[in-house]
Amino acid sequence: MAKLAIIGGSGLASLAALKITRQQVQHTPYGEPSGVLTYGVYADKEIIFMPRHGNPHVLPPHKINYRANIWALKENGITNIIGVNAVGGITEQMLPGSLVIPNQIIDYTWSRDHTFFDDGLSEVTHIDFTHPYNEELRQALLVAADSAGLDVLSSATYGATQGPRLESAAEIRRLKNDGCDIVGMTGMPEASLAKELEIRYASISIVANWGAGITEEALTMEAINAMLTKALGKVHTLLGAAIPSLG
Ligand code: HPA
Repeated sequence: MAKLAIIGGSGLASLAALKITRQQVQHTPYGEPSGVLTYGVYADKEIIFMPRHGNPHVLPPHKINYRANIWALKENGITNIIGVNAVGGITEQMLPGSLVIPNQIIDYTWSRDHTFFDDGLSEVTHIDFTHPYNEELRQALLVAADSAGLDVLSSATYGATQGPRLESAAEIRRLKNDGCDIVGMTGMPEASLAKELEIRYASISIVANWGAGITEEALTMEAINAMLTKALGKVHTLLGAAIPSLG
């Protein structure tokens, strides 16, 4: 049976609608996850919630122990993960306030522990990453959005940057030339680590702002957080509609 975890991103350190049943400390061979695993019931299904940046939000994107997070979820029998990610919009349709279910990813991150196939291998392993996001999970999210009457963008290429700073205007132009529609700091290596452990993974990306240099407006954390808070209602509606068919 599918077991679902939600990894909450910026603006989603907890799930108000989750009826918490227990919390579990999970140590891993890769160190400590972002926090305890919170088991609970959401839309009548048992799920695990994990805040990617910790709760309170203290871990910047490049300090998150992605390997420990994914390993801990696997240890707890998780087969499906929905990651919630804050992003900047790059191409025209990616309006701030929108929700996007990306279908491709380009990794610009560096020096993050990004693989389980590292030391002490009996053979070198290269996973297939042609389709970084699980198509069935993506479709389940899109069907749920439709049934809930939510307008959700159904495909995008996610450019994963190192952070924690935002990008320069030239970096955003380069990402656009490369084919990125959205930019965020937490999409990788989360997606590939899940794939290495054969966990189905999809992302709900919340567009919090226009990428640097796209408009004249200065990028401020206040404006980004205000937009995330505004869009969070839609994320809860989408999760509430999707989880019954996923958990
Ligand atoms: N760039 C990178 N990550 C982000 C952004 C952005 O503009 N907005 C929210 N997360």
